[in-house]
Amino acid sequence: TRLALLAGGISPEREVSLRGADSVYQAIDKDRYEVRRYDPATDLPHLVAEARELDCALIILHGRGGEDGTIQGMLELLGIPYQGAGVLGSALAMDKALAKEIYSLAGLTTPKARKLRRGAPLNLDNLAFPVVVKPATQGSSIGLEIVKKREELPQALKTAFSLDDTLVLEEFIPGRELTCAILDETPLPVIEIIPGEDYPFFNYEAKYLPGATKEICPAPIPEEIKLKVQEAALRAHRALRLRHVSRSDFIWGEDGEIYILETNTIPGMTETSLLPLAAKVAGLDFPALIEKLISMALR
Ligand code: DAL
Ligand code: MG
Repeated sequence: TRLALLAGGISPEREVSLRGADSVYQAIDKDRYEVRRYDPATDLPHLVAEARELDCALIILHGRGGEDGTIQGMLELLGIPYQGAGVLGSALAMDKALAKEIYSLAGLTTPKARKLRRGAPLNLDNLAFPVVVKPATQGSSIGLEIVKKREELPQALKTAFSLDDTLVLEEFIPGRELTCAILDETPLPVIEIIPGEDYPFFNYEAKYLPGATKEICPAPIPEEIKLKVQEAALRAHRALRLRHVSRSDFIWGEDGEIYILETNTIPGMTETSLLPLAAKVAGLDFPALIEKLISMALR
C-alpha cells in the first residue's frame, strides 16, 4: 500500500505537525506501507502528479490549509482516501465561532461568547471578565490570551488579529480542564489536563514541552462526569459532521456545568499529545493507533 504522509504546511502549527509526523513515520509498519512524505507548503504539485500512484493519505497537518477542509477537498478531487473529517466537517470545526453555534443547536453548553470581525465595533454586551481572546481559526492556543481587565484587551486583540480576521471573545470559565477523543465513532477515556504552576493556562509551551503539564488518564473525576463528557464529545463529533476521529476540549466548571470549548479534527500526534495517550489507556499503543487511522481511511 502506498501511503502519502502529509505534514508541515503553512499554518503556525507547522512545527507541531512536523514533530507529530516524525513520530508517526517511525510508527508506521514499513513492511505494509510504502511511505512518501509531502509537505503541502512546497510539494503540492508533486502530490497532484503522483496521485494515481497513491492508495491513501495520512494527514498530520493542523490549522489552516490542513485541518480546515482545503486539503481534504483536494484529496477528494484526486480520489485519494484519507483519515478523519471530510470537507464540511473540517471547515465547520475549524471555525470556533461557528462550531459554538452548532454546539448550542446540539444542546451542548459552551461558554458565552462574542464574535469580533476586524474593523467591527467592539461589543462586549454582558460578557464578564476574564475574557478569553481567540483567533477563530487557530490551534494549539496560538494567539490566545486570557484577559483579566478591560485595559489589557487592546493588546490581546492586536495579537489575535495578526493571525485571523475573526476572533472569538469568550467568557473564562474557572474549573478543571478535560479532553475526550472519539476514535472510530467511540469515545476514548477522558483525560484531565493540569498545566504546571509556571503556566497561566494550557498554552503552547505547556502543550508541547515534555513534562510542562500533567495529563492524567483516566481522569480522576466522578463516573457521572466522565460519562457526560464522553457523551458530549460524541454529540459534538456528530453535530459537526465528523468521522473517524476528533478530540473535544472541555471545562468542568466550578459551577458543576460541563462546557465544551472546541473540537479538533486532526488531534496532535506528538509524544506529549493527548489522543495517543487516551488511545494507549484504551489498549491501543501508538503503532496500533496509526494502523487504526490508516485502516479507517482505506475502508
Ligand atoms: N491543535 C492541536 C494540534 C491539538 O488539538 O492537539
Ligand atoms: Mg485546537
